[in-house]
Formats: sequence, C-alpha cells, structure tokens
Amino acid sequence: MSSSAEHLSKRFPKSFLFGTATASYQVEGAVHADGRGASIWDVFSATPGKVKGGDTGETACDHYRLWEKDLDLMAGLGIQAYRFSIAWPRILPSGMGRPLAEGLTFYDRLIDGLLARGIQPFATFYHWDLPQALEDKGGWRNRDTAKAFADYAELLTLKFGDRLAAICTLNEPWCVTYLSHLHGIHAPGLTDLGAAMRTVHHVNLAHGLAMQAIKSVKADIPAGLVLNPQSIYPGEASERAEKAALRAFDFNNGAFYGPVYSGAYPEELVAELGPLLPEAWQEDMADIHQPGDFTGVNYYTPEHVFDAPDSHWPRARAIRRNDLPKTDLGWDIMPDAFTHCLDELKKRYALPPIYITENGACDNTEAGRGSNSGRIPDNLRLSYLESHLDQVASMIADGQEKGHDIRGYFLWSLLDNFEWAEGYSARFGIVHVDYATQERTVKDSGRWYEALIKARG
Ligand code: FCB
Repeated sequence: MSSSAEHLSKRFPKSFLFGTATASYQVEGAVHADGRGASIWDVFSATPGKVKGGDTGETACDHYRLWEKDLDLMAGLGIQAYRFSIAWPRILPSGMGRPLAEGLTFYDRLIDGLLARGIQPFATFYHWDLPQALEDKGGWRNRDTAKAFADYAELLTLKFGDRLAAICTLNEPWCVTYLSHLHGIHAPGLTDLGAAMRTVHHVNLAHGLAMQAIKSVKADIPAGLVLNPQSIYPGEASERAEKAALRAFDFNNGAFYGPVYSGAYPEELVAELGPLLPEAWQEDMADIHQPGDFTGVNYYTPEHVFDAPDSHWPRARAIRRNDLPKTDLGWDIMPDAFTHCLDELKKRYALPPIYITENGACDNTEAGRGSNSGRIPDNLRLSYLESHLDQVASMIADGQEKGHDIRGYFLWSLLDNFEWAEGYSARFGIVHVDYATQERTVKDSGRWYEALIKARG
C-alpha cells in the first residue's frame, strides 16, 4: 500500500501542496448555534422528498464543536493545506448588515488552529449555504444577491485576509445554477431554464464583484473561482454526437469559463439562450472578466453525450457508460478523462495556475471483519486516488507546453459527511465518521494519503 504512495510522491514537485477539503453545511452541524441564520439547505433538507432518507445537516459531523479534534487528525496525517468553507448565515444571519461576533470567532479560531498546526488555510466564501433570507428575495435569480455576496466577501477579507493562504470565491457555479435551478436536485430545487440562465449570469457577476472587493482590501491575497468543469466526450462515433458534445461544452463549461476567463459567453449560447439572460447583461462583462490568481478544478467523473433533438438547447443528453467501472454512487471512473478535461479547457482559455480543489470517490466500505478487523479497507477509493493522482503527476511532468501548471491537490473529503441530496448514504471521506457516536476512524485510503505526503520528507 505505501510503496505505491512513495513512488507517486516522488513525481510531485517539492512546492506542490497536498490538502483535504470540506464544506460548512456538510460537516459543521450546529445549525441553530450562536445565532446562525437559516440557509437554503436547512429549508430544502427539511422539505420531504428532497434528500435521501430525510437526512439534514442539523448535526452532520458536529465539526462546529469537534473542530480541534479534526484539525489534530489532519495534522497527524501530515495534511499541508485545508480547504474549508465559511457559512454565510453564521456571519450574517440575514445575508447582509452587521456580522455576528460568534460566527467570526468560530472561523478565527479555526484559521488560527490551522496555522498553529502548520496547515495552510484555503477558505471558500460560498459553498451553497445561501442565507434563506436572501432566497426569500429571489436568491441567485436576483441581481442584488451578487452585490450582497461582494459585500460579504469584502467583510471576510477584512477579518481573515491577513491569515488566509488563499480565497476561493464560489464553489461550482454549475451546481449553484443548473443543478439547483434547472435540474431541481439541489436547493432551492427549481426546474426552470429561465431562472437558471438568470442565475448563471448573477453567479458569474458575484464572482467578478467579489474578486474586485477582495483585491480592494488585500491586493496580494491569491484568489480565484472554483469550477467543476465537465469532461465531455461524444457518446458514439457520429457527427451528431460530436456536435452535441460541443454544444454541451458551451452550455456546461463555456457559460462560466467564457465570461470569467475570456470576457464573453459562447456565441451559440448567446444566440440560443441570450434572451433568457438578465437585461443589459452585456454591461457586466468587464466586471465578470476576473481570471484571478488561480483557477480551482473539481473533477470526479466524465460525461458521455448524445444528440437530444427534442430537448432545449444544448439539445444533449449524457449517459453513464456500461463498460466503465463505477464508484458506490454509480459515477463512471475514467482517470484519463481528468487530463482530457484540462486539455479541452486549455485549448479554449488562457487559464491562471490550477489547484485541484476537489477530487475523490464515494466508497461506502465499513469496518472490516476477520483479518481486516479494526481497519476500513476502502480499496475502491484508494485505487481511484492512485489513478487520478497519477494523471495529475503526468499533467505536471508534461510541462507548460503540453501539460498543466497544477500547484496543489485537495482530496474530497477529509471526513464522511452530508452529501447533499444523497444525505449520509454516500461516504467520500478518508476518515470514517460514525454518525451515532461522532467517532472518527482513519480509513486505508487515509493511511495511504498520509504515506504519500510523509514520503516527501
Ligand atoms: C462536489 C461538491 C462537494 C461534494 C462533492 C462530492 O460537487 O462541491 O461539496 O459534494 O461534489
């Protein structure tokens, strides 16, 4: 187990950062503590039928109370950087106005605790827990939310900017917009293309305004957007599928990468869906065009796409492939799609340096029995991490010309946690959480990651 880790370890430059990631609503719990306001995920998860098993983030990993233990755990594993998110409703219960001292104190201590253990704090300012008070005013469909986010980002930079290693503005615009307003799977659960296109523009604007606000407070702090680019392939060798794959790229990736990194929406997207963008969207393009100091890539699985003439633009339908291995959540495992993903982005955009801000797999293995007793042999996750880190190492080795300038890797996730619409049924942690006792147990994958990091000396 550790020899593969040591071998892999040698293929990364000395300056490369190995970290883990989590998000506030998925781990913190304590949703009523210390004046925290309600978020859209509190409301959504309390709505029958929205989350598997009726699970909610009410307790989650109780990280709000157990954070010191979790930081010790990370330090023990040799983790060099931690990407966590700040819960907007803990700082501003109604999304705006005066910050709550208790909320600020929690993240103050967390950041200081990381620094005291030699772990670099990477803070995500928005990982989906929008204050419900803002949702009541139209949420991301309302342009004012972009402005409110920029004000909140300015406040966070003033309070924490002196100690953060980096800032991620928003996590995964694709999920905030399409998954939440078109596919109805995440909060607030809408299925409306018009609403979705408004949110696309407002989330892009939120990033652009926040970048400017962050830099006005602290010009030298590394900041950037975190996206989940789809690694798209035609589902079959046909011209129709190839064209569908190109359209799907524009819709799923270009709608965000275009404005942020090139200052423009894809032409065909504007031709087909332009009327659904908010009025005078053109006037925001300069504000949105903020590539920042790095771009965060969250990668999990490929998309194989077919022509779908009867559905709305991009008239494309993605399928899972029968011939590919799957994670315990049924996601296709295809390591070279990771490299394909970055190659396709590089062909189209001049991207800043890259951090892999999330990568990992759902593997629901529980404690082993017999000779495995006392261990959690999560072999699926371990081999997923091995094969995907192998891709990362090769992308770096290929150099600037052919490869990619990747500076760090954040494994999703440190802990098993509340996996959104899947509730607690999908485990992504390298550390097992027993939700009844809050006991943490390092899995085999966690020991493997530890060996990889520690082999660097
Ligand atoms: C990503 C999310 C993260 C987690 C993983 C599995 O899309 O950013 O919170 O749920 O998927």
